[in-house]
Amino acid sequence: MIRSLTPQSAAADGNALAAGFNNLLVTGGCGFIGTNFIRYLLNRPDFKGRIINLDKLTYAGNPENLRDVELNLPGRYIFHRADVCDGEEIDAIFSRYGIDSVCHFAAESHVDRSIRRPEGFIQTNIVGTFRLLETCRAAENFLLFHHVSTDEVYGSLGSDGLFTEKTAYRPNSPYSASKASSDHLVRAYHKTFGLPVTISNCSNNYGPYQFPEKLIPLMILNAREGKPLPVYGDGRNVRDWLYVEDHCEAIWNIMKSGRRGETYNIGGHAEIENIDVVNTVCDLLDRMAPFPDNNPHRKLIRYVPDRPGHDRRYAIDFSKLREELKWAPRESFPTGIRKTVSWYLDNSEWVARVRSGEYQAWIDENYGRR
Ligand code: NAD
Ligand code: DAU
Repeated sequence: MIRSLTPQSAAADGNALAAGFNNLLVTGGCGFIGTNFIRYLLNRPDFKGRIINLDKLTYAGNPENLRDVELNLPGRYIFHRADVCDGEEIDAIFSRYGIDSVCHFAAESHVDRSIRRPEGFIQTNIVGTFRLLETCRAAENFLLFHHVSTDEVYGSLGSDGLFTEKTAYRPNSPYSASKASSDHLVRAYHKTFGLPVTISNCSNNYGPYQFPEKLIPLMILNAREGKPLPVYGDGRNVRDWLYVEDHCEAIWNIMKSGRRGETYNIGGHAEIENIDVVNTVCDLLDRMAPFPDNNPHRKLIRYVPDRPGHDRRYAIDFSKLREELKWAPRESFPTGIRKTVSWYLDNSEWVARVRSGEYQAWIDENYGRR
């Protein structure tokens, strides 16, 4: 029988539930949000279990992000290279580690790549989620499948209104369509098989360890190097920016205390036009890492042809999460973006590694070619 938590009982039951997560499988833990989540959770006093991180190590996955954790907390963190589409391997991991809960991040996550080559998105995001769900439903005493999803499933907003959990799905890119499909599968496994699940749909994240193909790290690194800053279309598309650690906290709250079978929207209450994001990055770099001739970084901005099917505006109503689980973002955009720019300036070695072909060769040598 699925346990349904009322909001009133959620906080008290949260700790009891957290105590049950002894062997938590995190998929995609070597990516941007997964890395931040594992770091966040292993520092939480209310998480006493161990994390098994399953990651295929695509171009976006970097096991070096967690090398210190692997060395310092060997009993609490285990890395296992595998593909979520490989059902036999997933079954073996469940048996070997006694997996009792899953937080599912693994995905192909970049919209532009999904426009060029959608196939991998269908495989990983849809088939991979299906394979995981099949193993979870066969597992004994299974506690929770938390599915990490995106606000992009709702499509695009006009100049007003917010996405709520009741907004109809209208995905516009192969990426968002594949995530929408995976959300439906997760919900269906709850309704049909009684699998304990929660789903979160979050807005744009930014912060440390984000692969430099996404807007904010791309702009920081290009600007630093004096390269053009490509702004799509008129630059007035709006995203609702959330600092990644706030996303991690929201996910953990939902895992502990969210009602099973429910969806929660997560957002930053920080709607900003792309051009303003890019201007902010440029102005911060003018102060934190000025060019020798003091030329403003804004001079590098170039308007380029728009992304096909480009969603105009995303904005999240997260009142359900705020009211039921008392979550709100801690970081504002001005504080979060300053921390983020600092992180990229301080971690030029990480940047150089993830951009180099040498890094991919190292992955193949250490973990075997896939
Ligand atoms: P990312 O691209 O940085 O990381 C994805 C990780 O998944 C990588 O480590 C990659 O190696 C791994 N992976 C990919 N295919 C795999 C497979 N077949 N098997 C196992 N591992 C595989 O992505 P991210 O930005 O950290 O996003 C994580 C999740 O959060 C995704 O599900 C994404 O849809 C969702 N999300 C992201 C954002 C955002 O702004 N980045 C916002 C809302 C939701
Ligand atoms: O909303 C959540 C989603 O946010 C996540 O589900 C996705 O995984 C994540 O990649 C992100 O999707 P976006 O497409 O919004 O992020 P991206 O960083 O690619 O682009 C942000 C905005 O900036 C978007 O309007 C497109 C624009 N852009 C992007 C790039 C890379 C540019 O103008 N120039 C660029 O070079």
